[in-house]
Amino acid sequence: MKSEKSVVKIYKMKVAKTIESVRRLVKNARNAGEKIGFVPTMGALHTGHISLIETAKKKCDFVVISIFVNPTQFGPGEDFSRYPRPINAEVNICKKTDVDLVFVPAVRKMYPTENLTWVTVEKLTEPLCGRSRPGHFRGVTTVCAKLFNIVAPDVAYFGQKDAQQAIVIKRMVADLNMPLRIVVCPTVREPNGLAVSSRNQYLTERQKKDAANIYQSLQTCRNLIEAGTTDTRQIIAEMQKILQRIPSVEIEYISIVDAETLESIEKISGKVIAAVAVRIGTTRLIDNILVDAGT
Ligand code: PAJ
Repeated sequence: MKSEKSVVKIYKMKVAKTIESVRRLVKNARNAGEKIGFVPTMGALHTGHISLIETAKKKCDFVVISIFVNPTQFGPGEDFSRYPRPINAEVNICKKTDVDLVFVPAVRKMYPTENLTWVTVEKLTEPLCGRSRPGHFRGVTTVCAKLFNIVAPDVAYFGQKDAQQAIVIKRMVADLNMPLRIVVCPTVREPNGLAVSSRNQYLTERQKKDAANIYQSLQTCRNLIEAGTTDTRQIIAEMQKILQRIPSVEIEYISIVDAETLESIEKISGKVIAAVAVRIGTTRLIDNILVDAGT
């Protein structure tokens, strides 16, 4: 339940660069009885991020968004240095969506000294993206733990688009008794089905069309499951056929896994996640769907 507002807000959106100012502003809001919602992002804000902000705005009184391209979750040779950082456009989007506080720390504020303390979630980080991005989830969980400690939100919002990330974060919060709730919001897509992503900016129009086949392969998976197919190998073969038709698409993985443990399954039953990672040119794209096949 959204807490009752006794004071109408008259202040404008704040942009904070320091940890101290975030702590102070959130403390003021909390002392005023406000429920704190938090949307962690790496910026290059798009309609996927906006949907998380809008959900947070509906359910919380004070919404904080962080914009921080976190170096510790990028591997060597990944796109850390070329990751888009359109800070003015980002601040305008935050204003338009009525965000209360934007946290834009510099790397030296988040990592002032060599980082010696890491949060690692085991098992769940091994399959899917964990295979090709060693250290990635360790960077994500560590920065999220730091951000949760700084912002101290009641609720943090994550996207289903990064299903493994959301599951890993939920597990970290549960295992470490962190005092917040994680809410996972549906994936926002382009009209052609392509999941909206900051990395879509790297794609040409032709590549965007090609990339729409990722969702087509996932829909085929859903249709097969709904039609009663239970053999995952057969389903994956059908998905492969769709993606192999497109010369620019290089498949990294097509997996069907248990939606809780992320372990590969041979026979479909209960809740499963079908997940795809591909490369188109130099751009790595991921997408997934959650399917409830019943028991
Ligand atoms: P980023 O890629 O900026 O994504 C921020 C949040 O937006 C994540 O929870 C992500 O799942 C969600 N999101 C991205 N695209 C979406 C879409 N099309 N529909 C719905 N939600 C979408 O994920 C990260 O940043 C970082 O790893 C972070 C958690 C901020 C830690 O650095």
